[in-house]
Amino acid sequence: MSDDAVSNDGAEPSAHIPEVQPIDAAAPLSEQTHAAEQASIDAAEAELADLEAIEPEQADLESVVAGPAAEEAIEVEEAMHNVQSTVSIPRATTASSEGVFDDVVAEPGSSKPDPIVVAEGIRRQFGGLVAVDVDRLEIQRNAITALIGPNGAGKTTFFNLLTGFDQPNEGSWTFDGTPLLGIAPHKVAQMGMVRTFQLTKALSRMTVIENMRLGANHQKGEKLLQGLLQFPWRKQEDENTIRADELLQRFKLDHVRDEFAGSLSGGQRKLLEMARSLMVEPRMVMLDEPMAGVNPALKQSLLEHIKLLRNEGRTVLFVEHDMDMVMEISDWVVVMAEGRIIAEGPPETLGQNQQVIDAYLGTHQGADLGEEE
Ligand SMILES: Nc1ncnc2c1ncn2[C@@H]1O[C@H](COP(=O)(O)OP(=O)(O)O)[C@@H](O)[C@H]1O
Ligand SMILES: [Mg+2]
Repeated sequence: MSDDAVSNDGAEPSAHIPEVQPIDAAAPLSEQTHAAEQASIDAAEAELADLEAIEPEQADLESVVAGPAAEEAIEVEEAMHNVQSTVSIPRATTASSEGVFDDVVAEPGSSKPDPIVVAEGIRRQFGGLVAVDVDRLEIQRNAITALIGPNGAGKTTFFNLLTGFDQPNEGSWTFDGTPLLGIAPHKVAQMGMVRTFQLTKALSRMTVIENMRLGANHQKGEKLLQGLLQFPWRKQEDENTIRADELLQRFKLDHVRDEFAGSLSGGQRKLLEMARSLMVEPRMVMLDEPMAGVNPALKQSLLEHIKLLRNEGRTVLFVEHDMDMVMEISDWVVVMAEGRIIAEGPPETLGQNQQVIDAYLGTHQGADLGEEE
C-alpha cells in the first residue's frame, strides 16, 4: 500500500519516493490516507494532547467509551435517521447560485463573477513528486464547488495548502482579497475559512459539547486552557455554549450532547466535525470527503446540511468520490489529476469530458466514475 511507502514524519517527506506512487484502486479508502493528512491531524492534535494530559480523571473514562456506549450510539443513530427523513430544509430563494455560472467558461483556471478564493501558481513538491501544480483557480463565492479527481491527485494537499496546514514551494492565493501565504491554520479559520479532515478529528475522550466549545476556542486561536478550564470570560463561554447547542440541534446531535465523542458512529463524527467547524461562523467551509464511511441514510442528511451552508450565504468547497453526491449538489466541479487542474465545468458536462474519463480510467482501471467509493 502506498501509505507505507510514504514517510509519515513530514520532516523528510519524500527522500525515498523516486516517482509518483501508483495507487491501488482496490484498496479501501480508509487505507488510502497518506502522510499529509496524517501530518495535519498530528499537528492539530498535538496541541490538544496537552489539554487532555492535564485532565487525569478523563483517562479512567476511556474504558467507558468503547463498550456498551458504542452500541447505544448505533441505536441512537438509527433512531435519528427516522427523525431526519421527516426534516425538510427550505430551499433558499436569495442565496442560490442559480445562473451565476452561466457565463463562466468551462476550462481550467476560468474567471468567476465573484471569486472568494483566487489561487495562482501553487506548487507543492515532495522530493521528486509534484503533488500540487495549480496554475490558476478561482472559487466562486456562495456556491458549492466540488473538487474531484483520482486518489493521489493532490486534493488533500491542496486543501492543506489553502488552509495553512502545509506550505507551498511556490505560489500565492487570496481569501476574500487577503493574501494567505504563511498564515497559520487557526488564523485562517479566524478569518473565515475552515476545513474538515478526511479522517475526523473529534477528540474521543471529550464529550460532544466539549468538542464543540473547543471548535470555537481552537479555531479562534485562543489559549485552549483558558478557554476550557478557567472561567474569566464567562460571557464568551456562555455564548459559545449557546451557539454549540444550537448547532448540535441543527445537526441532530443534541441527544448525544454529553456522550463522549469516541462513542459516536463514523457518520455522527462527520456531523460533529461539520458542526464544530461552524462555531466560528465561517464564510467558507472546505470539506475533505464528508461522505466517506457514512451510511446511505445519513448521506442524505449530510447533503442537506451542505446545501444549507450555501443557502445561508457561505461558500463550500468539497472533495468527494461519491459521484451521485457531486452531481446532486455541486454548482461547479473542478477536476484534478496528478497535481494539476485538468477540467472545470458544470457537473452535468463532466461525463462527456474525455480528459476526465481518461484521468479516472488511468488510475482506476475501468472503475465506473459513478461507482467509485
Ligand atoms: N507528506 C507527504 N510526503 C510525501 N508525499 C506526500 C505527502 N503528502 C501527500 N503526498 C503525496 O502527494 C500526492 C497527492 O496526495 P493527496 O493530496 O493526498 O491526494 P488526494 O487527496 O487527491 O488523494 C500523493 O502521491 C501522495 O502520496
Ligand atoms: Mg485526499
